[in-house]
Amino acid sequence: MSKNILNNISNPIQSELDKFNEIFKKSMHSNVGIVDLIARYIIRQKGKKIRPLLVLLSAKLAGRISERTYRGAVLVELLHTATLIHDDVVDNADKRRGMWSINALFKNKVAVLMGDYLLSRGLMIAVDGKDFDFLGVITNAVKRMSEGELLQIRKTRKLDIDEETYFKVISDKTASLLETCSSIGAMSATDNKDHIEALKKYGHSLGMSFQIRDDILDYEGSSNLIGKPVGGDIKEKKITLPLIYALNKVSKSEASNIRKILKNGNEKTKVKEVMQFVKENNGTEYALSVSRDYSIKAKQALEIFPDSEIKLAMQKLVDFVSERKN
Ligand code: IPE
Ligand code: IPE
Ligand code: MG
Ligand code: MG
Repeated sequence: MSKNILNNISNPIQSELDKFNEIFKKSMHSNVGIVDLIARYIIRQKGKKIRPLLVLLSAKLAGRISERTYRGAVLVELLHTATLIHDDVVDNADKRRGMWSINALFKNKVAVLMGDYLLSRGLMIAVDGKDFDFLGVITNAVKRMSEGELLQIRKTRKLDIDEETYFKVISDKTASLLETCSSIGAMSATDNKDHIEALKKYGHSLGMSFQIRDDILDYEGSSNLIGKPVGGDIKEKKITLPLIYALNKVSKSEASNIRKILKNGNEKTKVKEVMQFVKENNGTEYALSVSRDYSIKAKQALEIFPDSEIKLAMQKLVDFVSERKN
């Protein structure tokens, strides 16, 4: 269902996306057998490719798609793939995109090194293309993503995350990359500072909405559609927006009881109990409303551009992201 919506959004740039896919596949190739084997496995995994879509749409909205735009699109998808592989090690996740994660199939050490390989391949593409402006933006995103994941680990251990910290974590670990995508797309097509800034803002708000939706899906998604089990965050003691809201709403003693369950609860019943608690306190409804606020902000950022087929696609992308089921 949501896949169709995404197809619909990518319609105006389908041929460009096809070209991207060809270059992307080639970019992972290696003469080292094990590296190439994993690269081919990753290609079969098939992600949604939202980030390259965002690069291409931003370039087209700000000007036109060029070879530089394609390098940017490949660079961000390589980086995204690398961070997912690392994230699954960090989160002890067995499933990704409906298939075994790299760490589950080949063990952690292989996954860590494969993530590094993909990251460096991405950076090499920018170096080879002399896209030094991209490198400035992308290295900042890599730094923020690592900081975001580390801050999350810290807070997970202490179980003391509040809304402000949550927004900092998701801004760094997720929105920084989506912001990079729209910035790089714009930079590949124009020098207009206002347009680049507007697209950067669009990417930031889209990214915030994207991660909040991901965190909601962990509570009430369908594991068939999201390609990873629901309840994974609870199992890993990750406190995200739906639970933060619910914890703030109840008495201190009830909140501390839930924290206890999260920390020491029985593996089997824990997920069910915490989910029930979040449901009773309308945690996901609240998170949905926050995600919608970011959607509105994302659309507002596009206001300086004249109406066009591409602008419409980017508005639809906002709705897809905040309502997606996969
Ligand atoms: C998953 O991103 C990681 C998050 C930032 C929540 P996507 O949902 O875009 O992953 P793929 O590439 O489509 O698998
Ligand atoms: C997003 O966080 C991961 C990155 C930004 C790398 P999650 O841990 O929630 O992502 P999923 O749920 O594993 O896809
Ligand atoms: Mg994860
Ligand atoms: Mg998640």
